[in-house]
Amino acid sequence: MALERTLSIIKPDATKRNLTGKINAVFEDAGLRIVAQKRIHLTEKQAGAFYAVHKERPFYGSLVSSMIAEPVVVQVLQGEGAVAKNREVMGATNPADAAEGTVRKLFAESIEANSVHGSDSLENAKNEISFFFAETEILP
Ligand code: PPS
Repeated sequence: MALERTLSIIKPDATKRNLTGKINAVFEDAGLRIVAQKRIHLTEKQAGAFYAVHKERPFYGSLVSSMIAEPVVVQVLQGEGAVAKNREVMGATNPADAAEGTVRKLFAESIEANSVHGSDSLENAKNEISFFFAETEILP
């Protein structure tokens, strides 16, 4: 399997509950290496642009609002097959459907307050990483 990087966001519902360290421990225990990380407060414009792909969906406004309610932690995770591995470690989008031991099963509150975002393909990972990080900020 190839060494990959993926973009992860620890969302406002989780930063608000002081869960960054606990979530990072799940990633690290799964073999994902945090090679870049910063805590930022997204603007409405940034969150709207990041989720532009969902613009036509009924929950878009609510999703954007939830993402700007509190700071987030944006991070780059690196590892063998990191994109799929992170999706597995996060669990299903809706925590009600998430498998035992996954971040969302452990910590998420609802389909919107679902604690983490992770890129869904290698191509999107590249775009999402460059949305938040310069190459010089990523330190393997
Ligand atoms: S996925 O994983 O991209 O296939 O999931 P998807 O169902 O397409 O959801 C994409 C993101 O939208 C959020 N979402 C919602 N927010 C608010 N209300 C409702 N009903 C809702 N349904 C989905 C979901 O948390 C996903 O956020 P990210 O940050 O991409 O995981």
